[in-house]
Amino acid sequence: MPKDDLQLMRELIDSHREGFALERHFYTSQAVYNNDIKMFWNRNWIWAGHVSQIAEPGDYFLFDYGPESVIVVRDREGEVRAHLNVCRHRGSRVCLESRGSARVFSCPYHAWTFGLDGKLRGGRAMGPDFDPSDYGLFPVQVQIFQGLIFICADENPPSLEASLDRLAPLSAPMGLDYLKLAHEASYPVPANWKLALENYLECYHCAPSHQEYSRSHSLKDSAEVEKYGGALRERSAAIGLPVEELDLTGPNALAPGTDVYWRRYPLFPGYQTGSKDGEPLAPPLGGLTGHDGGATDLSVGALNYFLIYADHLVGYRFVPRGLQETDIQIAWYVRGDAEEGRDYDKEALTWLWHVTSLDDERIIRHNQEGVNSHRFVPGPLSEMEWSLPGFYRSYFSMI
Ligand code: FES
Ligand code: FE
Repeated sequence: MPKDDLQLMRELIDSHREGFALERHFYTSQAVYNNDIKMFWNRNWIWAGHVSQIAEPGDYFLFDYGPESVIVVRDREGEVRAHLNVCRHRGSRVCLESRGSARVFSCPYHAWTFGLDGKLRGGRAMGPDFDPSDYGLFPVQVQIFQGLIFICADENPPSLEASLDRLAPLSAPMGLDYLKLAHEASYPVPANWKLALENYLECYHCAPSHQEYSRSHSLKDSAEVEKYGGALRERSAAIGLPVEELDLTGPNALAPGTDVYWRRYPLFPGYQTGSKDGEPLAPPLGGLTGHDGGATDLSVGALNYFLIYADHLVGYRFVPRGLQETDIQIAWYVRGDAEEGRDYDKEALTWLWHVTSLDDERIIRHNQEGVNSHRFVPGPLSEMEWSLPGFYRSYFSMI
């Protein structure tokens, strides 16, 4: 980043007013956006998918963000690896299909060929001094937690291990390593990625903006959670899920970029899961023996969010495509052996977060339109937006 741009970032951070939203430049400046990719997205762990999506050697999918593209692949030995999708010859994308199975990756430009391990097999007519071992695909770091694949483009990523070790026993009953992707959807929104992420982090907007969601989900940290929390504890214990909270965020984070948050909260009475009618949507996850009418918020790092009901997991990412172009990406997972048609109905399974994401697309778009005005100045945050300052803190800490 040119010195002036970095200076601009520092000035913006210094002028941020505690307890207020971010100033408009954070959402309107190309220099800030470029810095976000470089300092935040390239240096943080990003949830890319689940090991079940690349079950066999050679199976791969691409995960793209900003100007970057990453090949996530299972190699011959069965290890999950990730490589930057950039040819070491003259930089072409090496892999063009968004998912598939490959024996090698052959660059479409001049046919340099890379193994699943990223090593260059050979290049045509390169002369006697050419050493292919100097030109393997750049490695991207991989961390797998109970089947969830996280990637980081930085050579020295923040170490998630200590935080995830604390999480492991709490999430174990959910059987996250035994999931199946039921559906993926992308909701493009003409807004900066931070507005989309901030919208996910707060539920101040839920009552006015999400009719369907508000019918089943108690509003977090409100009196309702208090009211129904005790009964949930008993119901969760009865299906084999101890309700324990883990908050390694903000001042409790073990190190920058290693935040982990885990908390179960009750749905409204009559709702077993996030369905239209309150009825179960799929077989219980992992070793759970039934439905408890609860939902768990899980976050890993600053960019990766999950909502886990007793019978399915929904993963959320807010992927930058450009300064004011973001894909809200949502993936629905069910238990590994669940079969569509027999054990779950895809439309019923995805209904709630489909309608909710359409609402979110609309409100985030209008948010960006207003923020683009020269007269926008950040207003004070509500106490129901308590999680935004935590995000700002971790965002600022990476600059
Ligand atoms: Fe890939 Fe030339 S750019 S082989
Ligand atoms: Fe929302």
